[in-house]
Amino acid sequence: MTLSVPTPRHFIDLWRMDAASLRTILDDAHARKAARLGWGKAAVDADAPAKDRTLAMIFEKNSTRTRFSFDAAIRQLGGASIIANASDMQLGRGEPIEDTARVLSRMVDAVMIRANNHDDVERFAQVATVPVINALTNRSHPCQILADLQTFEEHRGPVAGKTIAWVGDGNNVCSSFIHAASQFGFRLTIACPPQYHPDLKDLARAADLGAKVEMTADPRAAVEGADCVVTDTWVSMGDTDHDQRLAAFEPYQVDEALMALAAREALFLHCLPAHRGEEVTDAVIDGPQSKIFDEAENRIHAQKAVLAWCFGAIG
Ligand code: CP
Ligand code: NVA
Repeated sequence: MTLSVPTPRHFIDLWRMDAASLRTILDDAHARKAARLGWGKAAVDADAPAKDRTLAMIFEKNSTRTRFSFDAAIRQLGGASIIANASDMQLGRGEPIEDTARVLSRMVDAVMIRANNHDDVERFAQVATVPVINALTNRSHPCQILADLQTFEEHRGPVAGKTIAWVGDGNNVCSSFIHAASQFGFRLTIACPPQYHPDLKDLARAADLGAKVEMTADPRAAVEGADCVVTDTWVSMGDTDHDQRLAAFEPYQVDEALMALAAREALFLHCLPAHRGEEVTDAVIDGPQSKIFDEAENRIHAQKAVLAWCFGAIG
């Protein structure tokens, strides 16, 4: 007799997920946030979908928001966490990823990974028998985009049909916005220097899926009439061409003049950490259109919904 093992619900990239599941996750994030208004930060949600469950968190790169928000998230769901920097694990001494995945699958109920190489997360997930969550790689940052969309929707209503403008580097965060455009039905306009364009495979897939994703080198054209303006650091973790980047991105700073071209009610978002005076001015990031701290807080709520989905509690 062969026992069939159900495939775990991995959360690796938004383009791999079906739109209905993603909508369910985002709705759950909104509902969980609303349900605990006024509660203490350590109070456990009424349904406690992670009761008796442990989340492992592995970091190959630095993190503030992701580390604290996932730890807070699993606790608010009634579960526990184990956190490790990859360099402290045998992984850092060359133990195969697949062996690490098989071992941790015996010890915890889900694994969150922030990795240098996206392919390592894919390899981990291929053999893991518990859900694996991408907490940022060189190629994508799906958890961040859920928090961003939650932030947009709580201030401006459904994101479907709206326009989000991305200004700056066509990096990992930009890629996840491209993945989200088809799934959530918003228009994405990207302004980047030609040499720092997003992954062409992501753009081609988005086009195949019928997403409205446009690219230009002109930040003013991208921002024109947009409902939300988003940027990110010009030098991501792992980038080595610091000086060339600063020179190439200089015309892409989000300042008040650029924001003035967006819709009157446009929001400003940034995943953080920010470099004030580089990709964004103080006046914009600390101004009335900026919702960056709601966005940071929403990492908790959005990731709770992701965890609830991974554990089969929703969707
Ligand atoms: N935005 C984000 O992922 O922040 P951290 O690098 O601090 O986790
Ligand atoms: N693009 C940035 C995001 C940090 C949260 C990086 O990868 O460093």
